[in-house]
Amino acid sequence: MEEKDLIIWEDRLLTNITIIDQQHKHFVSILNLLYHKFEHLASKEEIDPLMSDLVSYASTHFATEEGYMQKYNFPEFQEHKAIHDQLTADLTKLIEKYNLEGKKILPEIFDFLENWLVQHLDIYDHKYAEYFAQIGVSE
Ligand SMILES: [Fe+2]
Ligand SMILES: [Fe+2]
Repeated sequence: MEEKDLIIWEDRLLTNITIIDQQHKHFVSILNLLYHKFEHLASKEEIDPLMSDLVSYASTHFATEEGYMQKYNFPEFQEHKAIHDQLTADLTKLIEKYNLEGKKILPEIFDFLENWLVQHLDIYDHKYAEYFAQIGVSE
């Protein structure tokens, strides 16, 4: 049977900043891997390292984006950073819940991350991508 992904990458989500696009794709792949493990009833011990990867990768990614936004004086930097901070706080709470209550929390985490990824990329990351395109940033 073909493996179902939680999120299918679409090129409309590209920002055209190479490193950021690589990070977004990598994030999608960690999330899909986590989802497959869950579907295959992997143990919490097998899932734990992927959860840690996800959390640390999210903070690396936000730092990368924020660095680019500051470097090129993106006017909505503060607003974007506040959204990242909120996402981080929400994710931290969900991970605490997962640590206490285990795998049954995963569907809630998947819902949260799926919405986050698709909406955040589509709406907010798209804004700086447009700005960078306007001022002619290509990295
Ligand atoms: Fe992003
Ligand atoms: Fe972002």
